[in-house]
Amino acid sequence: MSNYHIKHLEEYYQVYRKSVRNPEVFWEEIAEEHFMWRKKWDNVLSWDFTKPEVKWFEGAQLNITENCIDRHLHIRGDKTAIIFEPNNPEEEAQHISYRDLHDKVCRFANVLKEQGIQKGDRVCIYLPMIPELAISVLACARIGAIHSVVFAGFSSSALATRINDATCKMVITSDGSYRGAKTIDLKGIVDEALKECACVETVLVAKRINTEIHMEAGRDHWLQPLLDEAYHDCVPEVMEAEDPLFILYTSGSTGKPKGMVHSTAGYMVYSAYTFKNVFQYREEDVYWCTADIGWITGHSYIVYGPLCNGATTVMFEGVPSYPDFGRFWEIVEKHKVNQFYTAPTAIRALAKEGVEHLEKHDLSSLKVLGTVGEPINEEAWHWYDDNVGKRKAPIVDTWWQTETGGIMITPIPFATPTKPTYATLPFIGIQPALMDENGNEIKGNQVDGRLCIKFPWPSMARTIWGNHQRYKDTYFSAYENKYFTGDGALRDEVGYYRITGRVDDVIIVSGHNLGTAPIEDAINEHPAVAESAIVGFPHDIKGNALYGYVTLKETGESRNQNNLRKEINQIITEQIGPIAKLDKIQFTNGLPKTRSGKIMRRILRKIAGKDTSNLGDTSTLLNPEVVQDIMDNAL
Ligand code: PRX
Repeated sequence: MSNYHIKHLEEYYQVYRKSVRNPEVFWEEIAEEHFMWRKKWDNVLSWDFTKPEVKWFEGAQLNITENCIDRHLHIRGDKTAIIFEPNNPEEEAQHISYRDLHDKVCRFANVLKEQGIQKGDRVCIYLPMIPELAISVLACARIGAIHSVVFAGFSSSALATRINDATCKMVITSDGSYRGAKTIDLKGIVDEALKECACVETVLVAKRINTEIHMEAGRDHWLQPLLDEAYHDCVPEVMEAEDPLFILYTSGSTGKPKGMVHSTAGYMVYSAYTFKNVFQYREEDVYWCTADIGWITGHSYIVYGPLCNGATTVMFEGVPSYPDFGRFWEIVEKHKVNQFYTAPTAIRALAKEGVEHLEKHDLSSLKVLGTVGEPINEEAWHWYDDNVGKRKAPIVDTWWQTETGGIMITPIPFATPTKPTYATLPFIGIQPALMDENGNEIKGNQVDGRLCIKFPWPSMARTIWGNHQRYKDTYFSAYENKYFTGDGALRDEVGYYRITGRVDDVIIVSGHNLGTAPIEDAINEHPAVAESAIVGFPHDIKGNALYGYVTLKETGESRNQNNLRKEINQIITEQIGPIAKLDKIQFTNGLPKTRSGKIMRRILRKIAGKDTSNLGDTSTLLNPEVVQDIMDNAL
């Protein structure tokens, strides 16, 4: 039996037991056998959730890029590390071998040094999904600079906030980016942001769309000529286990975004170990995660986790709908993708288009399908299973967060029997707890509560950049000695977990706790419904009542809307009970979504509550135009 690669359910239980009975022995063995260290640790783990302070592998020294690149050079130097699939299918894909990657990362690292970047400096990366994005992330790690990747769909003010919060000395960007048929003036957005950022001394600009752009003398430099001149080898900086590797911002329910700080050693061990097991990656496989590296999913499961395992990882620049809705399937066929990892929102969007795009492509290479980011509704789960995986490729519904650094609750494919909408079992080493409102742990099965984690795991965020108090208040104050996830979950009769959504999305109606996800699931089963979102609004008798925003598959649905409303409530009544019936159902042309695909319920809640004087920060919305439309037609 190998603790590193779990293949059967009994093995999972055995390894799991070992990992929680004696976590230090367990993680020490994983760290020792599968990674490259400059110096071993003095102490595997020390922790105190009251401070909170967590340290893994203290005293160890390493560089994560030696683990991601150098150690593969002898055995798989010519193997493809990164397949770059451009936005335009007519443009040729690039295959970057581990040897090429070493060369590119070293040159980039030397450019950073020449431009005055030192260990501990913060570098903001604002790039589209082009190879320079992964390479610059690794180049920062090579020299011990802390990268702060900002998703290149964020506006200039969101970018400026993030640059200033981490006082970044440098920004790495490109002249522009492609997004389907559109081009975006990224450099213009950076220029606008930098009007407010005195801390930035240097901007490096990659050429992607070849447009004329403004270059500020003394500050802005084209990247390529510097790379061409740079030396092709760079001695990795020796880092301490707990040195910060990166900062990644995540929006809180209130206030400015939180810069989650991840460590070097613990993050490396956990992202690599989860990658290997959750995707059952094998040496010849081609793995594709459709996320953007601007999110944690891209950090852990496009860059660090796959590369630490010597994997071939696909980076896709484009969107699922360009040039048509068959693009994902075309890429799967072209690169013979074995593991495919995407988000429920993408699955629903593709399902809406029907199966004809799928039928044109050979998807037989697919072995494992993943989903992440939000609860996956039952209809989407089955569509994915039936049409993409042809019921042969298990679906791993992976629950985790920016803060957790790696996957926390998930099936292990071919080992854990899956169950639609359930993330199933805690991953190795993860000790979840469900809590009631009084702060007590709810034991046993067939229960629901607030999801906490009661023991540290290696890749947990260590703090919020510049605000440790906020870290403590947000995650460690709600429940004593536990990390609070902000999510609700239920545990079924066999101990499987189902994430029911953010706790702030739980609505109490007449004293009953109702998770929004199961109600939305029910609504989405109506054949005319594409997507839905439920929020609560104040009600004199019930405390809260339910307001449903429902998008239909065909706009201009000719059926009588009142009949549709009755049918929807009938399905809810059947699946959950009359308590969950909606008081109001508004048909909408779309739902306001963040750029990562999450429905922005805060706005919907305000509209439902007729409190629209201040909708708060809407700068992260992908489709702000739907908000006015929803407001105009509110019930
Ligand atoms: O509510 C959970 C939801 O996404 C939140 C974390 O969001 P973020 O930090 O942006 O990270 C997303 C990618 C890891 C969680 O608190 N979430 C994530 N995965 C799932 C999920 N909800 C249900 N099922 C999931 N598989």
